[in-house]
Amino acid sequence: MKFDTTVVRAGITPDPTTGSIVPPIYETATFVLEEVGRDKGFDYTRASNPTRQVLESNLAHIEGGKYGVCYSSGMAAVSMCLQILNSGDHVVCSEDVYGGVTRYFNRVLAPQFGMSFTYVDTSDADMVRQAIRPETKMLWIETPTNPLLKVTDLEAMSRIAKENGLLYAVDSTFATPVYLRPLEWGADIVMHSTTKYLSGHNQIIGGAVVTNREDIADKLKFLQKTIGAVPSPFDCWLVLSGVKTLSLRMARHSENAQAVAEFLEAHPKVASVVYPGLKSHPKHEIAKAQMSGFSGMISFELTGGIPAGTALMNGVELCGLAESLGAVETMITHPATMTHAEVPVEERHARGLSDGLVRLSVGIEDVEDIIADLEQALAKA
Ligand SMILES: Cc1ncc(COP(=O)(O)O)c(C=O)c1O
Repeated sequence: MKFDTTVVRAGITPDPTTGSIVPPIYETATFVLEEVGRDKGFDYTRASNPTRQVLESNLAHIEGGKYGVCYSSGMAAVSMCLQILNSGDHVVCSEDVYGGVTRYFNRVLAPQFGMSFTYVDTSDADMVRQAIRPETKMLWIETPTNPLLKVTDLEAMSRIAKENGLLYAVDSTFATPVYLRPLEWGADIVMHSTTKYLSGHNQIIGGAVVTNREDIADKLKFLQKTIGAVPSPFDCWLVLSGVKTLSLRMARHSENAQAVAEFLEAHPKVASVVYPGLKSHPKHEIAKAQMSGFSGMISFELTGGIPAGTALMNGVELCGLAESLGAVETMITHPATMTHAEVPVEERHARGLSDGLVRLSVGIEDVEDIIADLEQALAKA
């Protein structure tokens, strides 16, 4: 099956009872057994649910993996991946990651569970090598990163992970399997916030992990039923509906983002633009080699700094000033006060996340309307 067919069809067969072409929403907590010790494959929805099972199979296929495991949020998915490790373990992590990830690592896992984390610019393989210690057990990579859109060479990370016997995990939320399939570049684990592009319509919060390794899948499934951070059958059904148009939506997100990035780069009030599809992106060539498209996320700064950025974000009319990303509607975000507000200011500045940075999740509206909205808001900035 070609990729664009897998998003629509993989893992989805007509419902055996009715022939329904769309998998039914099995909105049930429990399942009646045929007799003691004999069920029909399901007993309790925290452990397993038919609608969730279809989604897990579909996501595994589109990532090119064998096993999919879905959770109630992207953060729950991150948390389950980290719970494979033990206290005392050390993780080397991309320095520019979603703020919720560093909050979880630094304020829960480090102080309460004795784990330690070193944040490095993983677009620099030498820095990653230098950060590895005897107790390092995992490489946690985000690419492209939130919000600075840094791109990491996944093949280089795979070599480092293999040489050092590390678990190699990639948060691929920004790229989506349409443009990047980390398992093909040697990752053991690929993780998504399905809240974003995979569902794509700003309707649900969800997360997923895909792996080819049975030992990891067994642990993730065990944690799923033991901790119970599971998505509702209805939410799984919404993600499944969203995934069917993933290829089409991503093509439009990407095409629109390229046009918006080029518009911003040429605008006199814009000081800098970061988009992996621009030749000016420092890792454009790596992005081009490992991704088949550049997705819909852009970050930029205005020449007028924080006041101008604030005026722009308050001045947009079509774009929504909102926390999330990866949905059909264009959304604009101020990372310093929104998504990354809990990253200490010194840390934010050290990794290049300035207070004036504006993040744009380019939607699938007509690009002329998006640009016109930014143009009128820039005039006020
Ligand atoms: C790259 C990335 N990973 C993980 C998450 C967490 O996902 P969720 O909000 O679904 O818990 C986010 C949320 O913005 C994200 O941007």
